[in-house]
Amino acid sequence: MNDKEKVAKYAAQTVKSGMLVGLGTGSTANYFIESLANRIKEEGIQITAVASSMVSMIKAQSLGIPLAAIENIQQLDLYVDGADEVTADNVLLKGQGSDLVKEKLLARASKQFMVLVDQSKKVERIGEKFPIPIEVMPFAWQMVKLQLEKLGGQGGLRQNQKGDGLAISAYGSLILDMTFTPSMSSHQLDAMLNNMPGVVEHGIFRDLASVVLMPENGEVKTISRS
Ligand code: 5RP
Repeated sequence: MNDKEKVAKYAAQTVKSGMLVGLGTGSTANYFIESLANRIKEEGIQITAVASSMVSMIKAQSLGIPLAAIENIQQLDLYVDGADEVTADNVLLKGQGSDLVKEKLLARASKQFMVLVDQSKKVERIGEKFPIPIEVMPFAWQMVKLQLEKLGGQGGLRQNQKGDGLAISAYGSLILDMTFTPSMSSHQLDAMLNNMPGVVEHGIFRDLASVVLMPENGEVKTISRS
């Protein structure tokens, strides 16, 4: 069993009957969805899930997990998702997929947001390994890019997987993948992006993760927000 699978199984064990559970997106979230489906089948726990993406919704459906539409939800008990980067104080970078908006919405609406990572996701500062994904209204991308460049940002529009066109988010936005100098803290970047017209959402998740689960020396370590 790999580390992603290990943390996902651990997370699934924390789910209790009656919970409304948010399902993240990505390979780690997929392991969680599988483990949750096993508990439903084997132990008969009764939960309802809300998916953060079409991919997770289809996976959950195929495994027989009861689903509610996000439109009908105000609050969740638990949201479980992976991340691309995590700092020692549980700030995350997410958004290599195309469903950043729902991911942050569900994280914010949950009583507990549990983040599943392996050691490779640990960073000293946000933006160390990946550019910051910034979803922009399609007509605003040039204006937003210029504003970001004035703040020292470098980058451009994300390409689709084939590399022959642009990546489009689940809701039709374009995605700027931007790098910034290490002198820009995640706090500064978060505040600046939250306040920029034309930006739909971005990949910095500050003050959202309740607990990060990470395998260390064969054990799953839980790092709670201080
Ligand atoms: C998608 C995400 C994923 O959670 C993140 O990319 C981690 O993916 P994986 O679990 O496959 O390593 O933020 O937008």
